[in-house]
Amino acid sequence: MIRYLTGINTTGTPHLGNYVGAIRPAVQASLRSDVRSYYFLADYHALIKCSDPVRVQRSTLEIAATWLASGLDPERVTFYRQSDIHEIPELNWLLTCVTGKGLLNRAHAYKAAVDRNTEAGQDADDGVTAGLFMYPVLMAADILMFKAQKVPVGRDQIQHLEMARDIAASFNHLYGKDLLVLPEAQVDEQVSVLPGLDGRKMSKSYDNTIPLFVPQEELRRRILSIVTDSRAPGEPKDTEGSALFQIYRAFATPEETAAFADAYAQGIAWGEAKHALFERIDREIAPMRARYADLLAHPAQVEDILQAGATRAREESAPYLRELRAAAGLRSLSALHQSAPVPVADPSAAPEAPPVFKQYREKDGLFYFKMTNARGDVLLQSKGYANPRDAAAAIAHLKSHGAAAVDTLAEQIEPPQDGMLHAVRRALDVLLTLQE
Ligand code: TRP
Repeated sequence: MIRYLTGINTTGTPHLGNYVGAIRPAVQASLRSDVRSYYFLADYHALIKCSDPVRVQRSTLEIAATWLASGLDPERVTFYRQSDIHEIPELNWLLTCVTGKGLLNRAHAYKAAVDRNTEAGQDADDGVTAGLFMYPVLMAADILMFKAQKVPVGRDQIQHLEMARDIAASFNHLYGKDLLVLPEAQVDEQVSVLPGLDGRKMSKSYDNTIPLFVPQEELRRRILSIVTDSRAPGEPKDTEGSALFQIYRAFATPEETAAFADAYAQGIAWGEAKHALFERIDREIAPMRARYADLLAHPAQVEDILQAGATRAREESAPYLRELRAAAGLRSLSALHQSAPVPVADPSAAPEAPPVFKQYREKDGLFYFKMTNARGDVLLQSKGYANPRDAAAAIAHLKSHGAAAVDTLAEQIEPPQDGMLHAVRRALDVLLTLQE
């Protein structure tokens, strides 16, 4: 199972270009049986751009409804709202403390703002909030919180992914090498770029978009306004460079597309071609549009879906954050005298002594083992095995697989206490290193 995670911006109105280039492929990818997907509404990020509370709330509803109407199945995908996951801002702080300010100075979006200010002869940081400056750290927290391995994003986000890796590596270096999973950007080179009404890339900044869920008549009107050349009905037309044709192809099957190309060769009138395009798009969009309207009319339903997603997400983020907090030293004091102090991860300290395994039989007749550190403090305690060979096999597995074995054998060992898991992983890794 590969873990995919992506954040969805909650600002702006999605258009057909977003649908074809991002929403539809993401929904399709989430149906693969070999992936586990986490898609979330990045509403904390929205606060950086928008300080109108009514709009923030409205956009969250619209974007959530857009994705649900586009076929996102909240049973298959963990679909949640960023601000419902309280562990994210907590992790954000842990990460902030290991992030160099210089790293953030180099972020493209921040640098562009500084450049604009400098050119305009203003103070370099004029109008720049600390939120904008910290954007990459919050994004790293989003990603690292759910141990994402692949993060599907556009090219403009590659730097953010590199920063997330840097930040994760700093954290791991300080507190334990396997704590955070280093994510990779997944940039789809084939991603379809849809042309807009004027033939340039469909984009809000060119004001040439067709919003995804406009009413049917408005969709028709927009399609009629797509720019074409001046060829008359009956004259053969070029599919090459025809925005109309490219949009058609993004919605049609290969057979339909071939038939449409034929019609071009035979001189279909532009009016007729536009009508065919409208029919084809509307066939795909109409049921989604109806579902979208229904969701907008029932915001409480959307809220329920998001709450269910948040509950599921937090089942993972809450225990994981406890582990990360403990690794950084935010630990309960009462655990201090009940269990052995957790070894401090000090890179300059002498190499640690490897842990020791002891196998034994209890009065219940079952076979057990425990792993202790050199001082004899118990780090790990097994459950009972019916025969000694199974206990020995588990020990062998721990010895040969390092920290990762803790997860594989989770069913066979007593869950380590809060704050101890890190010491256990570390001890196993020391063992592994000594064997290499
Ligand atoms: N910054 C991303 C964008 O502008 C949105 C985003 C926020 C995101 N957090 C994320 C994407 C985490 C991927 C993973 O598109």
